[in-house]
Amino acid sequence: MADSALSIRTITESDLPDFHRVFAWSFLDEPVADHRWLKVLELERAHAVFDGDEMIGTGGVLTRQLTVPGGVQADVGAVTVVGVKPGNRRRGMASLLMRTQLHSIHDAGESLAILWASEGSIYRRFGYGEYASSLSMLKMPTRMPFHPGVTVSPARIRQVTRDEAMPFMREVHDRVRRARTGWLSRVEKSWDVHLSDAERDRGGLTSYRYCLHPEGYVVFRVKHGGDNGGPSHELHVRELVCETEQAHADLYRFLLDLDLAGSISFFTAADDPILHMVDNPRKVRRELTDALWLRVVDVEKALRLRRYSSDVDSVLEVEDPLCPWNSGRWRLTAKGGEAVVTRTEDPADVSVDVAALGSAYLGGTRLSVLRRAHRVVEHTAGHVDALSLAFLDAREPHCPEVF
Ligand SMILES: CC(C)(COP(=O)(O)OP(=O)(O)OC[C@H]1O[C@@H](n2cnc3c(N)ncnc32)[C@H](O)[C@@H]1OP(=O)(O)O)[C@@H](O)C(=O)NCCC(=O)NCCS
Repeated sequence: MADSALSIRTITESDLPDFHRVFAWSFLDEPVADHRWLKVLELERAHAVFDGDEMIGTGGVLTRQLTVPGGVQADVGAVTVVGVKPGNRRRGMASLLMRTQLHSIHDAGESLAILWASEGSIYRRFGYGEYASSLSMLKMPTRMPFHPGVTVSPARIRQVTRDEAMPFMREVHDRVRRARTGWLSRVEKSWDVHLSDAERDRGGLTSYRYCLHPEGYVVFRVKHGGDNGGPSHELHVRELVCETEQAHADLYRFLLDLDLAGSISFFTAADDPILHMVDNPRKVRRELTDALWLRVVDVEKALRLRRYSSDVDSVLEVEDPLCPWNSGRWRLTAKGGEAVVTRTEDPADVSVDVAALGSAYLGGTRLSVLRRAHRVVEHTAGHVDALSLAFLDAREPHCPEVF
C-alpha cells in the first residue's frame, strides 16, 4: 500500500536534472551529464514519484516491438530506470509506479511489458515472470578446433570503424530481430545505449571493435592480458548477429583464431550452438542466468497474438489483482498455429498466476516446470503438458540487449 504523502506524474524537460539525479543515486551511481539511459527516455512515458515537492522515485517505459513466437511483432512497454532515492525505500513507491505503468501500458494498447531486474525478488509480486528468456554466460579458450563437419566459408571478415559498420549493422539487425523470439526493435538512440563507448562504460577494456562478414557482424572489446609467455588477451563479445548459420560459424572461427587472444567471453543465447561446434564442449564454460522478465498486461490479446507449436484447447484461470481485466477464465483454442481466445464460464483446466504465464509466454519456461514449482495447478489431467508443448518455440527465446 502506497504512503498517502506520495504522488506520481509524468515528467517534462524541466524535471530531467532531478530525474537523472534520483535515478543515478538509487543505483548508487554518479549523475553524469550525458547518462546513456536518458538518451532513449520518452518523457510522456516517464514517471516521477514525489513526496510533497521532492522527487524521490523514477521509472520509464520505452515503446518497442518484441518478436514473439511465430515471428510476430508485439507492441510492448519496455520498463526501465526504476529507482527510489535511498532513504525512501519500502514506502510503496515501486508499487505505485508499477500500477501506474501497467495501467498506462494497457491504455496504450500494448499487451506485454518487459524488464530486466536488478534483483530477483522484486518483480514477481507485480506479475512479471522470471526466465521469460535466459542468458548463457560463455567463456572459452581460443584456438579450439571445430568438430569435423563444421564448415568455414572463405567469406572475408573485415575490421572497420564504428561509422563504417553502423549502416550495415542496422540493416542486418533489423532483419534478424524480426525472426528471433525475444529480440527487440531499436530506435536510432538504442544503438548509442547498447554500444555506448564512453570511457566509464568500458570497465577497463578497450573501445569496441567492429568486424563485418557479408552476412553478419561481431562487436567486441578486448581486455589486455598475458605474462612473460606472451599476450593472452580476453575478447569480450557484445553482440554477434548473423543472417545465416554459415556466418555464425565463420565469425566464431574468426574470434577463435584471432592471434594474441587467449579467451572469449560472451553473454549469448541459451541455445547458442557453439557448444556443439567445437571439438571439446567441456572447454566451453557456461552459466545460465535470467534475462527478460515478462508481464502479460492483456491476457486475451497476448494469447491471441503469438503462434503455437501444437493444437490445444484448454480453459485457463488467471488471477491478476493488479490488472483486474485479466482475472477470470479464458478458453485458449490453438489450431494450425493460430489461437482464438474467449472469456468463458466453463470450469478451468489449469489455474495459473499471471507471473507464471509471463515466464511461459515466449516459450522460455515450460508450464510443466511451473506446475512442479507449485505455481500452476492442473484441474484436468494432461492439459499442462499439452499447453507446455504448444507454448514451445523452435528456438529458445533470447534478448541480446539490456534496456
Ligand atoms: C527496487 C526498488 C525500486 C523498490 O522500491 P520501493 O519503493 O522500496 O518498493 P515498495 O515499497 O513499493 O515495495 C513493494 C514490495 O516489494 C518489496 N521489495 C521492494 N524492493 C525489494 C527488494 N530490493 N528486494 C526484496 N523485496 C523488495 C517490499 O518489501 C514490498 O513488499 P510487500 O508488498 O510484501 O510489503 C528500490 O529498492 C530501489 O530503488 N532499489 C535500487 C535500484 C533498483 O534496484 N531498481 C530496480 C531496477 S530493475
